[in-house]
Amino acid sequence: MASILGRLIFSLSGVVYSHTFVRAARLSSADRVLEIGCGMGTILTAVQRKICSNKPYLGIDLSHQMVLQGRTKISTAFVMKPVELMVGSAVTLPVNSSLFDVVLLSHVIKYLTDEQLCLVLEESARVLKPGGRIVLWEFNPVLAPFVTRLILKYCRAQRLRSGGELRHAMETAGYCDLRGFRIITPWLPWSNVALTGRLNGSYLNPRLTSSSRVPAKRLG
Ligand SMILES: C[S@@+](CC[C@H](N)C(=O)[O-])C[C@H]1O[C@@H](n2cnc3c(N)ncnc32)[C@H](O)[C@@H]1O
Repeated sequence: MASILGRLIFSLSGVVYSHTFVRAARLSSADRVLEIGCGMGTILTAVQRKICSNKPYLGIDLSHQMVLQGRTKISTAFVMKPVELMVGSAVTLPVNSSLFDVVLLSHVIKYLTDEQLCLVLEESARVLKPGGRIVLWEFNPVLAPFVTRLILKYCRAQRLRSGGELRHAMETAGYCDLRGFRIITPWLPWSNVALTGRLNGSYLNPRLTSSSRVPAKRLG
């Protein structure tokens, strides 16, 4: 039952979120987009179709199963440019630096520990071009803590964070011009946090020396 509900939500997410994402990211057809924790790539595919982008999109997800199912779905979808999905971890993205105009994190952050969240925001900054944008959204902690615990248990997730906590993490990772925006999730409409930010110039992280960078496997 839980997995049927999960699948339904995944397949609806493209329809529900693509419009919000295009608006929040101020997306143009010239933007190259990466979604981290893309699931089956439903948002990317819907966005690609909506704005007829002339750039290939990339989705990265930890789950082999999600990526395989997503590739099958995408192969039958009508899109102008490829939407590629690859298996990889958000904390060590298997792509070169400064490649993307926009990074999207949709309902992934709750699966990350605080330390992983910092790494993912830093990795996102590394793969963004100077001035690139990040767009993220996630469930908020709700007023009744037992509901938050229920969400975490159902999703097998780590933690829900407030807008203040996410803003602080984003600023620490080097993002500026942080703006909140409204997002409606039909399955939990009252409790969302949604933010965009911009990378101020090129990202230089002293923790990521050239020797510690992950070599590009596909995109260069
Ligand atoms: C709730 S789904 C969201 C899928 C998609 N972003 C959407 O909104 O429709 C969360 C996805 O994040 C992926 N994920 C969780 N932790 C991850 C990590 N550390 N690195 C990459 N993907 C991760 C999961 O495999 C899952 O497909």
